[in-house]
Amino acid sequence: MSSALTASPQWQALSDHYAQIKDLHLRQLFADDPQRGQRFTVEAAGLYLDYSKNRITAETLPLLLDLARSVNLQDRIEAMFRGDKINLTEGRAVLHTALRAPRDASVIVDGENVVPEVHAVLDKMAAFCQRVRGGQWKGHSGKRIRNIVNIGIGGSDLGPVMAYEALRHFSQRDLTFHFVSNVDATDFAEAVADLDPHETLFIVASKTFTTIETMTNADTARQWLLAAVEGDEAAIAKHFVALSTNAEKVSAFGIDTENMFEFWDWVGGRYSMDSAIGLSTMLAVGPDGFRDMLDGFHELDQHFRTAPLEQNLPVLMALLSIWYSNFFGVETTAVLPYEQYLSRFPAYLQQLTMESNGKYVTVDGEQVDYETGLIYWGEPGTNGQHSFYQLIHQGTRLIPCDFIAFAKSLNLIGDHQDILIANVLAQSEALAFGKTAEEVRAEGTEDWLVPHRVFQGNRPSNTILGEQMSPQVLGKLVALYEHSVYVQSVIWNIDAFDQWGVELGKVLAKNIIPELEAVNEPDLQHDSSTNELIRRYRQMR
Ligand code: F6P
Repeated sequence: MSSALTASPQWQALSDHYAQIKDLHLRQLFADDPQRGQRFTVEAAGLYLDYSKNRITAETLPLLLDLARSVNLQDRIEAMFRGDKINLTEGRAVLHTALRAPRDASVIVDGENVVPEVHAVLDKMAAFCQRVRGGQWKGHSGKRIRNIVNIGIGGSDLGPVMAYEALRHFSQRDLTFHFVSNVDATDFAEAVADLDPHETLFIVASKTFTTIETMTNADTARQWLLAAVEGDEAAIAKHFVALSTNAEKVSAFGIDTENMFEFWDWVGGRYSMDSAIGLSTMLAVGPDGFRDMLDGFHELDQHFRTAPLEQNLPVLMALLSIWYSNFFGVETTAVLPYEQYLSRFPAYLQQLTMESNGKYVTVDGEQVDYETGLIYWGEPGTNGQHSFYQLIHQGTRLIPCDFIAFAKSLNLIGDHQDILIANVLAQSEALAFGKTAEEVRAEGTEDWLVPHRVFQGNRPSNTILGEQMSPQVLGKLVALYEHSVYVQSVIWNIDAFDQWGVELGKVLAKNIIPELEAVNEPDLQHDSSTNELIRRYRQMR
């Protein structure tokens, strides 16, 4: 039996439309409409989205918008902003938007305005950051802090690392920043290899303060520090701060809750880079830079909340993803920033998009009969061009691309920027229009070589163009994808804010640890493959 979604007239209309236009070539679409490159664009919050190189006609978007309206998208957007418990399986509100609401705004959760609390934490973070950045916060031996090590994983790592890299240009250069996430000891060992413990501040970032990787790394960090201060536990207060929703566990770990920066269960881990989890970002760029970033987030939030659906950047990007995923059968999207500072943006987006929308049941627990959760991946340009772009251009799969570029470089040297931008424009042009056999032959190519040199084209892309990378722009970009993820989840009727799929592996690992460490041969009750792998590991370790 079909789901309500796939049985809906709006879905059916899109299926019919797909059958009609699936073979249309972008070459044709551009030839038929000389204004296409202006028509299929939207500009908002300083971001220019050109979606003209997508496999859509003038009818496609209205049909996708009908689908969006049929699931009451506008109401669902409001429901998120006003703090409804839209994370149904965890019974929580989803209010990352409140983290960037202005001081005088009001967002009510369980009868209470949360905005004053948000700003109280931001103020506490700012005061702390000023002391560290200004050298007034001293380590245990009286030396100033020079090195910041963020220990966290998933949302407590990917956002901070990505934001640090993205905003490095604006960072205080006499502080060094390091990020330890993996439970593989190499991550910790290499991060601290050149650091002086007396000048090092650890930020233990964990929403739950129970995550095994983070707790293991935090314990190791504590031993590393204590070894340098002759075991004097008083040093902990000067070298450790915590970012968490769990005050009890923070103090059980030995971190004074005075040195804890709080956030709330209505902030999802992967939506938390603008909460206290962003402390390393604020240390790097300063309180003003961090506020600029929040302003950027807020501007895009307002756009998402108020712009008509047909001019709404996150809505358009989400609907195009639905179009490819559910009608063209596309499985992946490449995110390709032509901005070196965004080198970790694709990795960040992987958690945001895939932990959010990798779900096989609807909010009502029914198995879906359509694909959800596109696979996101990518690398900065132009590096990717010399690696995997071959497959995007001439492979057998359709891979829509999001190109992200800025008009101005933060490092204006020679003509690097023009070369960079020429490349991003050339890529989307080549992908869309390709090169026909006639064109290849006309260049004098021998017949046998012609097929190898043909580019079929008709490979879709979005181009997002901004003026220049900045804290504000980073906030806008992240909010753009956050909201696009939400819109997709609304259409798919799934919960974008839980992550039950990561639990089973965690539980099984906890069972296996004692079996690996047991002195005597353990009584292994797994399948034959797991049992044998455990035996071999025990022999080799
Ligand atoms: O991977 C599962 C997850 O719960 C993520 O959602 C989260 O960002 C990450 O682990 C880290 O969790 P915590 O911040 O609680 O340590």
